[in-house]
Amino acid sequence: MAEIKVAQSAGFCFGVKIAVDSAIGAGKKYGKAYTNGPIIHNKQVVQFLEKLNVKELQSYSQLQEGDTVLIRSHGVPPKTERMLQEKGVNIIDATCPFVKKVHEKVRQLVEEGYYVIIIGEEGHPEVIGILGHLEESGGKGIVVENMEDLIKKFPKRNKVGIVAQTTQNEEFFEEAVGYIASNVEELKVFNTICDATSVRQEEVKRLAKEVDLMIIIGGKHSGNTRRLAQISKAINPETYHVEKAEELEKKWFEGKERIGVSAGASTPDWIIKEVVQKIKEFTKDS
Ligand code: F3S
Repeated sequence: MAEIKVAQSAGFCFGVKIAVDSAIGAGKKYGKAYTNGPIIHNKQVVQFLEKLNVKELQSYSQLQEGDTVLIRSHGVPPKTERMLQEKGVNIIDATCPFVKKVHEKVRQLVEEGYYVIIIGEEGHPEVIGILGHLEESGGKGIVVENMEDLIKKFPKRNKVGIVAQTTQNEEFFEEAVGYIASNVEELKVFNTICDATSVRQEEVKRLAKEVDLMIIIGGKHSGNTRRLAQISKAINPETYHVEKAEELEKKWFEGKERIGVSAGASTPDWIIKEVVQKIKEFTKDS
């Protein structure tokens, strides 16, 4: 059988654990609850929660007074929270503490007079929340997704502050900081990439070098899982991104002796176990 190395950091981060546990708790306590979007980018978990009557909200207009809404780990803009309060709904705030930290840092930068550059994915719910806090505090700023974007949008400002979406790629963040540093007079940087993300990315980099093939598990829409797969593929071209065990193909493992496995922050342990089990089956004769 091939040697299978599973990254210690694979799977739910603590922010996702809080959100999923809160959603399960809300379903049990209130018999019905909504989440403001899929609680995590993982279909299997979303389906499990639906059985507890915890469902994704289609539109805020469907809410009635007294309904329960869980704010996901991504957080929301302050005006969304106010709107929910005005509707008289019961709010469970499962915003990850690391995301709240980004909100605080944005406010601090605005108070200190900085123009804010957010290193993140335009349109991502977390980034929408961060932009909401920027707007609320009266600040100005932009979101940049890659170096090309940064160069194209580069603001004519001398005093610039930087924060990152919590799941950003560390290498891009460092490259962007280097570029900005050489083009402004005054710079303040808060590396708000969360520990769970940086530890996971570092471990994938190490593992991808040691093995013949890498399997990255997680939702195809999960940004942090996609970034893990990109990081791994850049080091080890034999990298496959799968959502579940059924997607694995036996031929990938032919002649492979060492297999590395990691998973995004929204991948439950039971899916990781199923994938590992399937790899064992495929490689039992090798
Ligand atoms: Fe929070 Fe980081 Fe997870 S920001 S939700 S601990 S990936």
